[in-house]
Amino acid sequence: MSELVPIAVAKGDGIGPEIMDATLRILQAAGARIKPEFITVGLEAYEAGEKTGISKESWEILRRTKILLKAPLTTPQGAGYKSVNVTLRKALGLFANVRPTQTFEPYVHSKHAGVDMVIVRENEEDLYAGIEYRQTRDSCQSVKLLSRSGSERIIRYAFEYARANNRKKVTCLIKDNIMKITDGMFHYSFKLIAKEYPEIEADSMIVDIGMAQVAAQPERFDVLVTLNLYGDIVSDIASQVSGSVGLAGSFNLGEKFAMFEAVHGSAPDIAGKGIANPSGLLNGAILMLNHIGQNDVAAKIQNAWMRAIEDGCHTGDIAQNTNLALSTSDFADAVVERLGQEPLRLRPVTAEGKKETLMPTHDQRTITIREKKNVGVDVFVAADNTTARTIGKLAETCAPEGLKFELVSSRGAKVYPIEESAEMLIVNDLWRLRFYGENVTHEQKRQLLINLEDKGFDWVQVQGLHTFDGERGYSLCQGE
Ligand code: NAI
Repeated sequence: MSELVPIAVAKGDGIGPEIMDATLRILQAAGARIKPEFITVGLEAYEAGEKTGISKESWEILRRTKILLKAPLTTPQGAGYKSVNVTLRKALGLFANVRPTQTFEPYVHSKHAGVDMVIVRENEEDLYAGIEYRQTRDSCQSVKLLSRSGSERIIRYAFEYARANNRKKVTCLIKDNIMKITDGMFHYSFKLIAKEYPEIEADSMIVDIGMAQVAAQPERFDVLVTLNLYGDIVSDIASQVSGSVGLAGSFNLGEKFAMFEAVHGSAPDIAGKGIANPSGLLNGAILMLNHIGQNDVAAKIQNAWMRAIEDGCHTGDIAQNTNLALSTSDFADAVVERLGQEPLRLRPVTAEGKKETLMPTHDQRTITIREKKNVGVDVFVAADNTTARTIGKLAETCAPEGLKFELVSSRGAKVYPIEESAEMLIVNDLWRLRFYGENVTHEQKRQLLINLEDKGFDWVQVQGLHTFDGERGYSLCQGE
């Protein structure tokens, strides 16, 4: 018998322990050659005083095993501790979140049949960088952080995935009509990299209509690649379209580590009731078995699971007759009883051909920018109970030699020099003062801040304006 593969296991919060117990029971009965090592993360770790939400011993187990099977973790909304899910993704360099979604009509009720799509979501950047500020009494800011290298890595992964798994099309979801620099860069990288995969159809959609299409005609999609936030939203839409959020598994992949989980959260509303569907986590575990080369066990479990679904063994979330709904544990028993059997109508899987967690073989970059020039500076200042005219008149007097005052904006729109179109604009207590120059120096920026301070301005943020090979690297204000 081959050696057991050590894997870190986090039982999670809410329904986590119930669905993890059911999943591990099925894995064991199927003969998975794994050695689970339990780690403490999330609520339990925070309550034990671990600031990162992950205990020291857990980090050691993770570093050694490099593979984590994780049940959902609770993250407080609005306030409280940071998401441990995000901490894990960042600390382990898990740049790709891959979420396959399928329908199982007629056994699991869905408005759509024949859905078989895979969402590849960038996992480390975007608004999930978690950089937020409250800058004034009235204004707060969340930084949407994207890198060209991070964008290229995830896009290349999506195409490699499509190629290895015989998929025909990759669709990119972006909002570059509005976010021309961030989403624009992602889209540009997509078009560039797509050329390296001529056999795969490449298609792009604005994210709002893209999501509407995923909800209305999910069968049209194959592989989707997108940014972190859009990916989070579209994958929940996709899993709901498949019949229940309780079905889909997913994996998070980096160069050294891999984490497998369900798409759904800790479902506090049904925690402790023994009614949660363990299928999402089980499908995550199947992906893990394929990743560690135990394709035989993965196929055995997947076939037994499909057979159970065909035989009407359903938990409450997908049961057509809720009186016949199985508990979490009874559903696990139903899968165990069918190990060795294949589905009769759904397509059985074989032990071969699963290459979902394949890593890109090369990390070729397309970046060729040579010249970066500082051509201006934006200074954000806080000021209550004032007008655009007062701010503008004063700011005009603050430009040091080599810098020229350009405008004042509020909430992204130009409010000074005042034009008719700006008269109706609603302003608040955060103002952006824009100054332009040529090859702006640090000395000029320092002098600008001194001049602003001397005139009583309370500056809260300074941002250099740059061009890259002559191309503007900052957005124009509305009305500029
Ligand atoms: P959720 O996915 O936990 O629940 C949404 C709805 O789906 C609920 O009605 C729930 O009962 C149902 N549901 C979810 N999983 C189910 C299952 N396996 N079987 C049957 N029904 C199921 O989303 P929600 O309520 O927005 O989030 C709850 C918590 O989970 C939050 O703290 C959130 O931050 C966290 N979360 C964690 C994730 C992770 O660890 N990867 C992912 C998403 C959310």
